[in-house]
Amino acid sequence: MEVSEKAPAKINLTLDALHKREDGYHELEMIMTTIDLSDRIELADIYGDDIVLENSSGLIPQDERNLAYRAADLLRQRMGITRGVKITIHKRIPVAAGLAGGSSDAAATLRGLNRLWQLGLSLEELAEMGAEIGSDVPFCVWSGTALAKGRGEILTPVAPPPPCWVVLAKPRHGVSTAEVFQALRVDQIDRRPNTEAMIRALEQGDYRGICRHLGNVLEEVTMQMYPEVRRLKEKMQQFGADGVLMSGSGPTVFGLVDRESRARRIVNGLRGFCRQVYAVRMLGSNQPLLLDKTRT
Ligand code: C5P
Repeated sequence: MEVSEKAPAKINLTLDALHKREDGYHELEMIMTTIDLSDRIELADIYGDDIVLENSSGLIPQDERNLAYRAADLLRQRMGITRGVKITIHKRIPVAAGLAGGSSDAAATLRGLNRLWQLGLSLEELAEMGAEIGSDVPFCVWSGTALAKGRGEILTPVAPPPPCWVVLAKPRHGVSTAEVFQALRVDQIDRRPNTEAMIRALEQGDYRGICRHLGNVLEEVTMQMYPEVRRLKEKMQQFGADGVLMSGSGPTVFGLVDRESRARRIVNGLRGFCRQVYAVRMLGSNQPLLLDKTRT
């Protein structure tokens, strides 16, 4: 038997770090939303008890460093499963980009194996397990639009953004989330996003308000490390995006645009400066993922 799961990327509409905790993680407050740029995960029964990983890109590790591998391994241990599985990752989300590609692959692996192995676990249970793999995995288990607190694993659904377009520009280099957080000085943050105002703008479907309240305290840190991120943000603004922000720990910069034709124009303009540029739809709706197919 084989199942297929969609693994969508996320962007951060806000990201605030309140303080550094004793366990080394940062206490966060952030709003994340799902976008229409996805990897696809295929999970197939195989003979033997190995976890075999294949991927289309050659850019991601094929062993236990891969979060999808870890998700399968953890689920097997917790549920006492001895079956092997082949995980094939069809990669479209840029790697080490601030778009939660690896976390979403892990989340899709948890959802898919829950079906393949008929475990009957709830999304709550899968999200709880996902938190052991990475801070963004619980959000990716649910997808939609949510306020995330704690390490990122305490989730409250919030109203999704109105339909609009997201232009993504990914600089050549990837970024290590751990490195960015390490360089962050929470006591020296001078501009923080107004999370409450963003939630109100979302509730009111106020597209201009959403654009106005975009904010991420990691942006300045990553820009110091990689000036290309600042240049891309400025370009995206010059080309006319309505609101521009770096997602997560970066380095991907996204711009919100209200119409497809404008999004395409911005993509064309950015192509001269950046190789990986995409225009995708905002998804964000808090519907369960209705995207899965089971084949036998
Ligand atoms: O949880 P995850 O493994 O994705 O986090 C990667 C790294 O990012 C952590 O090792 C930590 O250094 C940093 N991080 C943090 N505070 C968070 C989430 C991540 O400092 N809330």
